Amino acid sequence: MAMAALLLNLLLLVVKAAAIKVAAPCAIPPDDGSTVHILHAFGPCSPLGAVPFTSWEDTIMDLLSRDASRLLYLSSLAASAGRSFVPLSPGRQLLQIPNYVVRAKVGSPPQSLLVALDNSNDAAWFPCAGCVGCPSASSSFATARSSSYRPLPCGSPQCRQVPNPSCFAGASSCAFNLTYGSSSIQAGLVQDSLALAADVVPFYTFGCLQKVTGGNSVPPQGLLGLGRGPLSFLSQTKSLYDSTFSYCLPSFKSLNFTGTLRLGPVGQPKHIKTTPLFSNPRRSSLYYVNMVGVRVGRKVVDIPPSALAFDPATGAGTIVDSGTMFTRLVTPAYNAVRDEFRRRVKASGPVTTLGGFDTCYDGPMVAPAITLMFAGMNVTLPPENVMIHSTAGSVSCLAMAASPDNTNSMINVVANMQQQNHRVLFDVPNGRIGFAREPCSGVV
Ligand SMILES: *[C@@H]1O[C@H](CO)[C@@H](O)[C@H](O)[C@H]1NC(C)=O
Ligand SMILES: *[C@@H]1O[C@H](CO)[C@@H](O)[C@H](O)[C@H]1NC(C)=O
Ligand SMILES: *[C@@H]1O[C@H](CO)[C@@H](O)[C@H](O)[C@H]1NC(C)=O
Repeated sequence: MAMAALLLNLLLLVVKAAAIKVAAPCAIPPDDGSTVHILHAFGPCSPLGAVPFTSWEDTIMDLLSRDASRLLYLSSLAASAGRSFVPLSPGRQLLQIPNYVVRAKVGSPPQSLLVALDNSNDAAWFPCAGCVGCPSASSSFATARSSSYRPLPCGSPQCRQVPNPSCFAGASSCAFNLTYGSSSIQAGLVQDSLALAADVVPFYTFGCLQKVTGGNSVPPQGLLGLGRGPLSFLSQTKSLYDSTFSYCLPSFKSLNFTGTLRLGPVGQPKHIKTTPLFSNPRRSSLYYVNMVGVRVGRKVVDIPPSALAFDPATGAGTIVDSGTMFTRLVTPAYNAVRDEFRRRVKASGPVTTLGGFDTCYDGPMVAPAITLMFAGMNVTLPPENVMIHSTAGSVSCLAMAASPDNTNSMINVVANMQQQNHRVLFDVPNGRIGFAREPCSGVV
C-alpha cells in the first residue's frame, strides 16, 4: 500500500510536468555570461517531458531501469580498454538518457536546442533537419539555415577518431554508423559554431544525426558530454574554459526548478572543499575521486578498503556522475552503510522495500546524517540528499543502492540526487573536484 502510494506520488511529479508543458509556455530565464541554466530532463521545458508512458508501472520501471542500465554502461566504460575519444558512444548499452538538459545555440544565426548534459561522456551530437527516424523533428538543427555549417572532409584527422567511419567512393564528407541501445544511427561528422550562454565556440566538431532505424532508444534532444577525453567539449573549448566547470543540480522536488552550469575558471567558488581528481587512462572521460569511507551519524562505517580502492587496471573506484539518479556503492560497502543507517534511524515502523530501494519507512522517521569521506574532504549530506520522500510525506526511502553485481568492474557512483543543491566544481587543470552546499533550485 505504502509503496504504491510512493510510486504514485513520484509519478505524479512526472505527469504534472507533462501537463504543465501543455498548459504553460516554457519560459527559461536567459542564460548570461558563462552561466547556463540546467533543467530537469523530465521537466516542463524538456522534450522528454512529453514522452508518453502507457502506465504508472511502465514509468517507474523506466526510471529504475534507466539507472540500472546506466550503471552497466559506466562500468563497461570503466572496464574496457576503449578508444580515448568516442564522439558518439559506441553504444553496446543504452544508458544513459541523462536527467538534466541545458540550452545550446548551434549555427549562424544561432538555433536554440536543448541538449542533455552528461559528465561521463565525451560525445556531442544533435538531431539534424531531415533526419529520418529521429524522435523529434521540432528540436532538430536546420543545417541549411546556418552559414557556418560545414561537413568535415573524409581526410580530416577527426574522421579517423569516430567509430565505423565511412567514406564512399565519391563521398567527400565523413560519416559514420553506430548502434545506440536498440537503434542504429547514421550521422555526419560536422562542424559549426556552438554557444552555451554568451560564449561562442567556432568550428565545434559534433555528430549530426541523419538516420535512425530500429528501436526507440534515441533521446529526442541532443547530447552534450562534459567528459574530459580528447576532443570532448572540454578539450574543444580548452582555450575558452580551461577545462573547468561547475554545476548546481536542481532538486527533484519540483521539476520546474533550474540549476546552473558555470563554465570556465572565472566566477568559481574560491573557498570550497576539494579532493584530488584521478584519471583512469583507459577511460579518460570519467571523473574519479578517492572515496575513503562513509560516516553514518558519527560512526565511520567499517568498509573493506578493497570496496573503495581506485584501480586503473580494472576501472574500480568511485566516480562523480551527473547522469545516475541514486548513489550506488559496491555491495560490501552498501550493506555496511545500510546496516549502520538502519541501526541509527529513529522510526516508528519496520523497514520495508520499494522497487530498487531496500530501506524504506512508512510514517515519521528521523534519518542520521550521511557523510561521504573523500581524501581531504568530507561531504555531509543533509536529509534532502539522503532520503527520497513520497510527496504525501508518508513513505521515505534511503536513496542509495548496491551497484549491480553483474557489472564488470567494482564501481561506486556518487549520483545526482546526492549532488543536488551543491555546487560541484570540476577543476581539471588543478586536478581536483570541489563540493559546497548551495541551494540553487530557483523556480523557472
Ligand atoms: C551505414 O549505414 C548505411 C545505411 O544503412 C549503409 O548504406 C552504409 O553502408 C553503412 N556504412 C557502414 C560503414 O557500415
Ligand atoms: C512550478 O512549480 C511550483 C511548485 O511545484 C508550482 O506552484 C508552479 O505553478 C510551477 N510553475 C510553473 C510555471 O509551472
Ligand atoms: C572526515 O571525517 C573523519 C571522521 O569523522 C575525520 O577523521 C577526518 O579528519 C575528516 N576529514 C576532513 C578532511 O575533515
